Amino acid sequence: MSAPGENLKINGERLWDSLMEMAKIGPGIAGGNNRQTLTDEDAEGRALFQKWCEDAGMTMGVDTMGTMFATRPGEDPDALPVYVGSHLDTQPTGGKYDGVLGVLGALEAVRSMNDLGIKTRHPIVVTNWANEEGARFAPAMLASGVFAGVISQDHAYARTDLEGKTYGEELERIGWKGDEEVGARKMHAYYELHIEQGPILEAEGKDIGVVTHCQGLWWLEFTLTGKEAHTGSTPMLMRVNAGLAMSRILEMVQEVAMAAQPGAVGGVGQMQFSPNSRNVLPGKVVFTVDIRSPDQAKLDGMRAQIEKRAAEICAEIGVGCSVEAVGHFDPVTFAPDLVSNVRAAAERLGYSHMNLISGAGHDACWAAKVAPATMVMCPCVGGLSHNEAEEITPDWARAGTEVLFHAVLETAEIVG
Ligand code: GLV
Ligand code: MN
Ligand code: MN
Repeated sequence: MSAPGENLKINGERLWDSLMEMAKIGPGIAGGNNRQTLTDEDAEGRALFQKWCEDAGMTMGVDTMGTMFATRPGEDPDALPVYVGSHLDTQPTGGKYDGVLGVLGALEAVRSMNDLGIKTRHPIVVTNWANEEGARFAPAMLASGVFAGVISQDHAYARTDLEGKTYGEELERIGWKGDEEVGARKMHAYYELHIEQGPILEAEGKDIGVVTHCQGLWWLEFTLTGKEAHTGSTPMLMRVNAGLAMSRILEMVQEVAMAAQPGAVGGVGQMQFSPNSRNVLPGKVVFTVDIRSPDQAKLDGMRAQIEKRAAEICAEIGVGCSVEAVGHFDPVTFAPDLVSNVRAAAERLGYSHMNLISGAGHDACWAAKVAPATMVMCPCVGGLSHNEAEEITPDWARAGTEVLFHAVLETAEIVG
């Protein structure tokens, strides 16, 4: 089998038009998107994606977690499919490309196969994983985690958003609970295209990131219990201030992450003060520490230190402290053969490239548990992501999708 010829191109304009069309659904307030998982906007985005898939001759299947699988048949009835996808859900103040490029890039690859009359031995399945972001329901990559057998479906269904609505109820409500058993599908391979969400490719002037690894993660949800009391009349020595304990823990997380440099990050993105009133000391504070590293020992060491030092801080202030791990995956090594395919595709197409370790989590991390998997990355402006101002250029989108297209064809095997 020879590699796909360098003359095989995708349609960059059609890809960009589709990205802009999808971005009209669930617009944000500053030019990006708010299409959070299992909202009405998510349902609308799903319906448009389904229509596009069916127009491209694919057949849609949906599993009981709400993940969408659009199949382009292959020529060999015994060959397992090559899965290609990402996610259409966004952060509350998300960009137009995080996840969306991977799904619509996969769709563009199939549309281009149709245009070029390419047949493959293996079927191709364009995939939209449900709840990748974890913004509304923790953890991130929830449906792919159930698919890989690392999270139970019952646990996933019971996850709640800030209003107390469960994943299971909301999935039923938007009408996207399918009938396929999660994880019953078997994959020959999995590819995911994604924007880098970091500054390296742009700074190095490279078109393509060849993703060899993904760093691991812990999300540690802290619940601190103090004593609600008047902020004016309660003497300083009589306070049991859960907010004070939280602020000391935030500083400590920063110290722990800095001491683990290079190759480690830590921070807090979500915190809830209760009752959150200007003149009441908080009786309860809930926040999630997010720590990541590609080095397993470093990651677990950071977790242990943070839990130990947080307990000490809380004991000193007299605040109750409990910790629940609400998200976790180990560092991932992607499949060397597929990584080589991505590198070879970039070479063949004349795109500059470099190896990358993914800083963000992706559905590919869970897919890697059940099949050979890897990712392709393209730059994003200023490394900015999880921000409505997230931006890429049409050329970067086209280059990334073309490399994806070639790598997928290599694995799916052109037969005519
Ligand atoms: C997923 O978007 C993550 O938090 O890395
Ligand atoms: Mn993403
Ligand atoms: Mn994201």
